[in-house]
Amino acid sequence: MKHLIDPMDLTVEEIDKLLDLADDIIANREKYSKKCEGKKLATLFFEPSTRTRLSFEAAMMELGGNVLGFSSSDSSSAAKGESVADTVKVVSCYADIIAMRHPKEGAPCLAAMKADAPIINAGDGGHNHPTQTLTDLLTIRREKGRLDNLTIGCCGDLKFGRTVHSLIKAMSRYANIHFIMISPQELEIPDYLVEEVFSDGKLNYEQVRTIDEVIDRLDVLYMTRVQRERFFNEADYIRLKDTYILDTKKLKKAKPDLSILHPLPRVNEISVEVDDDPRACYFRQALNGKYVRMALILKLLEEAGK
Ligand code: CP
Repeated sequence: MKHLIDPMDLTVEEIDKLLDLADDIIANREKYSKKCEGKKLATLFFEPSTRTRLSFEAAMMELGGNVLGFSSSDSSSAAKGESVADTVKVVSCYADIIAMRHPKEGAPCLAAMKADAPIINAGDGGHNHPTQTLTDLLTIRREKGRLDNLTIGCCGDLKFGRTVHSLIKAMSRYANIHFIMISPQELEIPDYLVEEVFSDGKLNYEQVRTIDEVIDRLDVLYMTRVQRERFFNEADYIRLKDTYILDTKKLKKAKPDLSILHPLPRVNEISVEVDDDPRACYFRQALNGKYVRMALILKLLEEAGK
């Protein structure tokens, strides 16, 4: 059974095919409207979500399928102490495919070992968020026309931000990608990721502290919020939360074809005045998330013979 737990579970060729399928879905919505008739997606969200859960559910509905699930651990038997393993074993009896978010890193991986249905990691702690990465890749490809030869600035909470971790891993396989990490020292990318992605020397990155010093070089600026829920200490969160605020003044030096992405939710890190700038892609990005999840559901169900 094929699951999607880590962005590296997919080869570059598989990713490119998924993005092609998402493009085709966008261009031919009606063609796909009955592809999942009679099929069910379960969304098991042990942690809050707006975009990921609702875009998965909208995706399955637009494919003609049905959805069931829960949106917090409090409203499931996890609140009574049921294990993740037992939960997914049982839900496999009710659904053909499962999208799962959990605050503990590795929980979807454990679920994949126990479930009798394909498991999609919809975010595990500060670790990975592979379907956000598919969303980001589709957005970059649609906005820039390519996934190679790009200078990408990742800004904000690079320590706890799982979307950045997954994006860096996935993009590291495309040619001539240059990363510029923009973060305070306390929120730099974790050592394990540096080891995993950059240690062989094929790919390098710069680490800087301000947006201003690099904004004119960027093709893509990937903003992230400071992840309050992953901090051990509220005082540290308050000290760091407004380190970066992108506004129209900062964008004056940026390239005319810069693409500004953000996985959302946004807190303060992008001023709302930026929303009217054509370079702001984050709401188009949220929409792309639905289409790429439609493509993923189709692919995993097909591979599972369902
Ligand atoms: N981007 C993202 O994962 O958003 P949600 O937390 O709202 O799902």
